[in-house]
Amino acid sequence: MVTIKSKREIELMKEAGRINALAHQAVKDAIKPGISTFELDLIAESVIRSHGATPSFKGYQGYKHAICASINEVVIHGIPNRKHILKKGDIIAIDIGTCYKGYHGDSAMTHAVGEISNEKQKLLEVTERSLYEGLKFAKAGCHLSDISHAIEEFVKQYGYGIVQEFTGHGVGQALHEEPSIPNYGKKGEGVILKEGMTLAVEPMINLGTSRVRILKDGWTVVTIDKKPSAHFEHTVAITKDGYEILTKLEENDV
Ligand code: MF3
Ligand code: CO
Repeated sequence: MVTIKSKREIELMKEAGRINALAHQAVKDAIKPGISTFELDLIAESVIRSHGATPSFKGYQGYKHAICASINEVVIHGIPNRKHILKKGDIIAIDIGTCYKGYHGDSAMTHAVGEISNEKQKLLEVTERSLYEGLKFAKAGCHLSDISHAIEEFVKQYGYGIVQEFTGHGVGQALHEEPSIPNYGKKGEGVILKEGMTLAVEPMINLGTSRVRILKDGWTVVTIDKKPSAHFEHTVAITKDGYEILTKLEENDV
């Protein structure tokens, strides 16, 4: 069942999302050659806690950190590690979840470390754009898979690999709720979107093959051809005529 959130619930999710965005901003500001993903995790956790919230990922299915930090060929679920040190030319996907008064916000973005290759730059741009191409169909009356289809159609033009094993998802009192939201598919399928649904849409796009595998740590997802991958995600609420992004900063935060 896809739950409908009340105005009050959406306000709480917006606060969770705002704190999540503040954590993202602090991590982004700290990203530079020489810093470890372990340090980035500590930064995010301290921002989240300083706002009276908790990191959604910590303790989730045994995960021990506030963020996932996925460098280059790591698609998602990169585990923060003191030995994972950023260097110029890397790309790093940061995924963060925040729980505030029982409601979750979940978002991800991929950053360049210093100067990066043109092909990585293009991958980042296309992946971020694909999120917004999908969200054009995040409105009451559309079918869920219209979002999926739009992401696929947009990404296809560039010949990139769309990860199929992982999807976006509903989000609210649980980090993962129904429905799951693939980043590919036919239009006109799945639930009909209604005002008050809250969704995390998250394209994971590979420069090369779409195929991925999980490392022995049980978490880290990597491309099988070791080519880079990018990830962007926002939590949105469906409104009458479109969507509102919940995982963003408010005017006074900027
Ligand atoms: N942000 C991820 C998602 O969107 C969740 C990360 S898994 C965790 O599904 F264990 F780290 F929480
Ligand atoms: Co998510």
